[in-house]
Amino acid sequence: MCGITGYIGDQDALPLVRTGLQNLEYRGYDSAGIAADTGELSIYKRSGKVKELLSAAPESADARRAIGHTRWSTHGPPTDTNAHPHTNCDGSVAVVHNGIVENYDTIKDELADHTFESDTDTEVIPHLISEYLDDGLTPADAVRETVNRLSGSYAIVVMVAGDDRIYAARNESPLVIGHGDDGMFLASDVTAFLEETQRVTYMQDGDLAVLSATGLNLYRHGEMVDPEIETLDWEADAAEKGGYSHYMLKEIHEQPSALRQTISGRLDVDAGEADLELAIPDEYLQSLDEIQIVACGTSYYAGEYAARLFEELANVRTTVTIASEYAVNDSRDPWRTLGLAVTQSGETADTLSAIRTASDAGMKTMAVTNTLGSSVTRETNESVFIRAGPEIGVAATKTFASQVATLGMLAVAFGRKRGELSRDRAATVLENLRSIPGAIQQVLDRDQQIGAVAEAYADSDSFFFIGRHLGYPVALEGALKLKEISYDHAEGFAAGELKHGPLALVTGHTPVLAVLTEGARPQETQNNVKEVQAREAPVIGATTSDYNRYLDETFSVPDVGVFSPLVANVYWQLFAYYVADLKDRSIDKPRNLAKSVTVE
Ligand code: G6P
Repeated sequence: MCGITGYIGDQDALPLVRTGLQNLEYRGYDSAGIAADTGELSIYKRSGKVKELLSAAPESADARRAIGHTRWSTHGPPTDTNAHPHTNCDGSVAVVHNGIVENYDTIKDELADHTFESDTDTEVIPHLISEYLDDGLTPADAVRETVNRLSGSYAIVVMVAGDDRIYAARNESPLVIGHGDDGMFLASDVTAFLEETQRVTYMQDGDLAVLSATGLNLYRHGEMVDPEIETLDWEADAAEKGGYSHYMLKEIHEQPSALRQTISGRLDVDAGEADLELAIPDEYLQSLDEIQIVACGTSYYAGEYAARLFEELANVRTTVTIASEYAVNDSRDPWRTLGLAVTQSGETADTLSAIRTASDAGMKTMAVTNTLGSSVTRETNESVFIRAGPEIGVAATKTFASQVATLGMLAVAFGRKRGELSRDRAATVLENLRSIPGAIQQVLDRDQQIGAVAEAYADSDSFFFIGRHLGYPVALEGALKLKEISYDHAEGFAAGELKHGPLALVTGHTPVLAVLTEGARPQETQNNVKEVQAREAPVIGATTSDYNRYLDETFSVPDVGVFSPLVANVYWQLFAYYVADLKDRSIDKPRNLAKSVTVE
């Protein structure tokens, strides 16, 4: 979705903001723009790709401050005019904005003597700021007063001509400040400036930040506070392609190392314990009746996988709801129901809204996320980090694996604390967890075989993915990956459900990709394999053991118990990747999709 980047300091700001915009491209956008202080505020805007903007804007401008934006249209189509930054009538106030100003119509009516050029909600912001400036307010106070008038979600960044500051405010939309050696950075996510600094301050809702070349003044609800500075341990090149043709391929291959980070220091296999440093009291977990997982997209499928593990290992009823569909049933006892948000970005608007609903109903809430300091960590009572490192490809890959592994550890921790899981069984599951990185490496080593199979089937009419139990969410995720990046029609089904409808669609041109591993009830799924083969469909199976007799193509999966389907998923990721690559699709930034969806 929309991205923000900015710099103020001793360096020329323009090249830094240009790089920031390129780093933000992965979020998905349809136009982009820059405002640079070149003595006046120079504005450059283009619909389309960042590279079109960059060829229209100068490479350097000897500017000490600049801000940039990638826009993903909500109010008005992706045109040059609708691109950010937006300005007031005389161009002396420039604003970039993520989110939606819900009351922009009312504000626009009040500003009847102003001329508006765009269709956006954002444009009211610079006009309103200029009104307050005309009333004699300082730029900081004008921004503060303006923000007080806005309803909705926003991250806004402002420059005023003739001034030497950048102002930023947020409500329900992320902003992070980077402390560089010779200036300050600002962005909607750290990947914008990761190669420049890893010392960051995450802004909170209600904060107003005033950045100058020498530092940051941070106001929280009007009071000046000492900014908390965190040092990230993300390598700068973790956000670069490192020799792979796409971020997605790199991230698929990073899964063994990402998973090692996920589990590092958290397992005591012999004792059968997983230590996630939970602050949540044991008595609470012991009296827990139900876990309600809320999530979107790939995280939703990680939630589906986890629900089966919570039921099996911790004996606690677990529901999973697509976040935008979540509602609290009054018959539940909120004290004995845990709301669990699964979100790699920690910024997905639907997930944040659902977890707020759970919180408002009196439930304790927890987040499983990849992003330190993200909104979900502030909205919930407790956060557990999946430690997958930055994921740039829009289609989630390594974060799915790290989410499932983290949730698996949580299920073990809950099971042990609830007295529902024996030490031996826990030790087996943890040993399985420890074996996942090696098992995934074995799959990655076969990527030539996967490429060849993908080529053989790439021109099919449609692709069906099937699985049972822990294999079912993997079937759903496999189909999602393929449709997201290849634009081919793909569906995931519970294997047993085929005969209740979807079988009508099966022909010799609909390959069926089946999960036939441990944890996915392979014996029963084999019957479904025969069903589709009787209708001439070719079957590609990811299998751990003896279920390859009838398969047209066999992908072999090392047995890692309940995590075997997670390893099978890596075959589906690579299959999707190679099909999309053959079709020359925009793999890292599929059409119409965004990495972080910050509107409901
Ligand atoms: C978007 C992305 C998906 C992602 C989903 C949830 O739709 O394109 O890849 O799975 O958001 O994101 P989250 O950050 O909450 O895990």
